[in-house]
Amino acid sequence: MELNIDQLRASTPGVTNVLHFNNAGCSLPIKEVIDIITEYIQTEAMMGGYETKDYYQSTIDQFYHRAAQLINASPDEIAIVGNATEGINKVLYAFPFQKGDIILTTEVEYGNNYLNFLNLKKEKGIEIEIIPNDDFGNILLEKMESMISPKVKLIAITHIPTNSGLVVPAEKIGAIAQKHHIPYLLDACQSVGQMPVDVKKIQCDFLSTTSRKYLRGPRGLGFMYVRKKWLQKLNPPSLDMVTAHWEDSQNYHLDRTIKMFEHWEKPYAMVLGFSKALAYINELGIEKTWNRIQYLANLLREKLSTIDGIQVLDIGTQKCGLVSFKLKDIPCEELHQFLLKQNINTSVSARFCTVIDMDKRGLASVNRASIHYYNTEEEINFFIKKIAYIAEQVALAKNKPIK
Ligand SMILES: Cc1ncc(COP(=O)(O)O)c(C=O)c1O
Repeated sequence: MELNIDQLRASTPGVTNVLHFNNAGCSLPIKEVIDIITEYIQTEAMMGGYETKDYYQSTIDQFYHRAAQLINASPDEIAIVGNATEGINKVLYAFPFQKGDIILTTEVEYGNNYLNFLNLKKEKGIEIEIIPNDDFGNILLEKMESMISPKVKLIAITHIPTNSGLVVPAEKIGAIAQKHHIPYLLDACQSVGQMPVDVKKIQCDFLSTTSRKYLRGPRGLGFMYVRKKWLQKLNPPSLDMVTAHWEDSQNYHLDRTIKMFEHWEKPYAMVLGFSKALAYINELGIEKTWNRIQYLANLLREKLSTIDGIQVLDIGTQKCGLVSFKLKDIPCEELHQFLLKQNINTSVSARFCTVIDMDKRGLASVNRASIHYYNTEEEINFFIKKIAYIAEQVALAKNKPIK
């Protein structure tokens, strides 16, 4: 069945209020997500927090099945975490790095991840090596393979970077990682919910993602995937009574299940909301929604590139719903604020999010419009009209603030 856009918009209350092209920041939530969160909080208020959790336990447990279904994992390989970064860090700080070990990564790696590579460099003496891109922004896979050595202990890749419209070829990287038996960590923060992500096809060992972006769940949650064989080999960076059992004044023992990456205390209202969002995308079908996202984002790219003064700044061959651009002679933040006043949400991606790529391209920041399947051609046309108007104003009154 085709996607029913009217129905999708009817279950997205925010579309009546705002033109939202900031789905890569935080998408507009689905009505069913808002409803279950509200229902749960009201039940907590009436019944008590622990009692409500017990009452909803079987519904809470569905979360793991729904997340596993979406990425083709098993429910006992899924842990609920606070956000994508927390999931990445739980792997990085559980990993048995030794001095001189190498993390292999890309030019488009996300800031939070790279900061932790740098911290591991400082604390443990690891090295970071960066796989170069070609002139079009595509990762050089042959070069990557030539960089593999016994010192490379982890390949850590951002699937969809925050600033450049690119989809990194996660499956091809996975094939190389597998061939050389190197563990593979995927930051799928922007890809899960946006495009098909299948951990078996990608052959990653670890993955982390977030609720609030393309999955359209509530803020403040994420989930991580750890391939089962790693549960015996990793020591969680901190313990919690979920799986660590305190025996006496000197001892504890650990159940080596995926739960060792979870906290005992969780925002269960949000977990149920996140779970609803997962059920929603599983039901819609990720192939269909991904096709629509690509269609809309390509339309936006095409139309933007016809406007005088606009430079579309996306790189690479395979592109996604994130569209990055700049308008000549106007600071990104000024354009962003102008659009906000017109009830249009976009965002600005700054250098500090992706330092290596931005420095290579001489960019301090870019404007970003990120499209989801519930957006429409009409919204794109409206957006383009506004941008064309601003471009005209800027050309007429160089260096004066726009009104
Ligand atoms: C590519 C990428 N990775 C990781 C993150 C961090 O996600 P979170 O804020 O959920 O930790 C972001 C956030 O924008 C991102 O764009």
